[in-house]
Amino acid sequence: MKRYHVTTFGCQMNAHDSERIKGMLESLGIGEAPSQEEADVLVFNTCTIREKPDTKFAAHLAQATALKRRDPEKVIAVGGCYAEAQRERLFQLYPEVDVAFGPGSIPHLGDWLGVGGQVAGSAERGRFGTHEHFAGDLPMRRERRFQAWVQISMGCNSKCAYCIVPAVRGREQSRRPGDILAEVTQLAQDGVREITLLGQNVNSWGRDLRPALDIEFGELLRACDTVAGIERIRFTSPHPKDFRQPVIEAMAECTAVCEHVHLPLQSGSSRILKAMRRTYDRERYLRLAATLRDAIPDLALGTDLIVGFPGETEDDFRATLDVVKEVRYDSAFTFVYSPRRGTEAANLDDQVPDEVKRDRIERLVEVVQRVAAERNAERIGSVEQVLVEGSSRTDVGLLRGRTRRNTTVVFAGNAQPGDLVEVLIEGATSTTLRGAQPAAVAA
Ligand code: SAH
Ligand code: SF4
Ligand code: F3S
Repeated sequence: MKRYHVTTFGCQMNAHDSERIKGMLESLGIGEAPSQEEADVLVFNTCTIREKPDTKFAAHLAQATALKRRDPEKVIAVGGCYAEAQRERLFQLYPEVDVAFGPGSIPHLGDWLGVGGQVAGSAERGRFGTHEHFAGDLPMRRERRFQAWVQISMGCNSKCAYCIVPAVRGREQSRRPGDILAEVTQLAQDGVREITLLGQNVNSWGRDLRPALDIEFGELLRACDTVAGIERIRFTSPHPKDFRQPVIEAMAECTAVCEHVHLPLQSGSSRILKAMRRTYDRERYLRLAATLRDAIPDLALGTDLIVGFPGETEDDFRATLDVVKEVRYDSAFTFVYSPRRGTEAANLDDQVPDEVKRDRIERLVEVVQRVAAERNAERIGSVEQVLVEGSSRTDVGLLRGRTRRNTTVVFAGNAQPGDLVEVLIEGATSTTLRGAQPAAVAA
């Protein structure tokens, strides 16, 4: 039997696409190999959001090329956002690549690999598809029995000046609510307890289904909340510009919807937000964060932040630090602005020098970590519901899981992956809580 190996870069959307790539290859009779060395088909699902993933992929491909020199029968397939961004020149840049496919053409991968007949050797070189239809019905191979991603839309209609995603993932297409609900119901029957709804902008879900269907994201949350067996519902990411009252009310009222929102700010300076084309300003964002906190007690807020966007001054940067201190994020992903070919911001002349970017990211990370450590320390003494994911990565004697607020907890106790247990929180760092199951405390 032929075997495949998939290497994944990038965001949850890509991780989920890899589940479909694996599921599809398995449905075609190709099994998973534990390593690239042992695989006949080497698949790379790439990301190009910043320069770093591009370079990481190049290093991985160099290794794969060495393997292929020793065994020319191996097939190298490159998919995902980098492949799509480089579709004009991917085969020139990397002559050893046999098959390339964009995020919109996963359903065709099997044909292009020549599966059905022979895999290795007969692969057709090339072929990028277009973003034709929503491929929600592909087979899937999930990483965990009790957690699942559910894609609700593909593509993005925003025009954030720094971002390559709209160019590589196409226009936004919402998946039909009936199909989403059918998948969630099936997942629940398979034992899934936690779902994460995925889209580049979940809060604009449904807009392209009008006028045939008049539905918005809040109603989708409510519908998922009624599915028996689904005990936790998460979603990522909402765009602040589209976060409206019906969604806030649905979050507050649905018992399964978790008290956690990832709300990308990007910059705390209204001037920079305008140049980024985010279409909200600092004040509107702060009002939204306050409204969310009023409506949902104990809400955890996470965010994405970029330093060094073209034209960012020291004052603009300090405005970002100020918002971090004011909102008091529980977690934040921090990025150095990376110019992407073909995006609006890449052509602006006032690019920020590298050493200034480096200085700013260091100062930002320090504030983000301090605030997150304070927020986590506030949990000490509370009892949190934890979904057990496995054993601790550093100490196999301890268990690891996540709270409803999406914080990782390492704890002493006795439970199985997939169990929902109560944990008394006893310690905290900026990223992790420590604790014990009350029974284990008593024993
Ligand atoms: N659609 C999602 C995620 C987009 S990508 C959303 O809008 O929230 C994830 C994050 O990467 C973005 O939120 C942004 O903070 C960061 N990012 C995107 N393009 C970037 C670039 N060119 N340089 C640095 N960071 C970038
Ligand atoms: Fe990129 Fe903006 Fe779309 Fe997010 S909303 S994917 S940052 S263009
Ligand atoms: Fe995700 Fe990277 Fe594409 S962040 S959408 S895999 S460019």
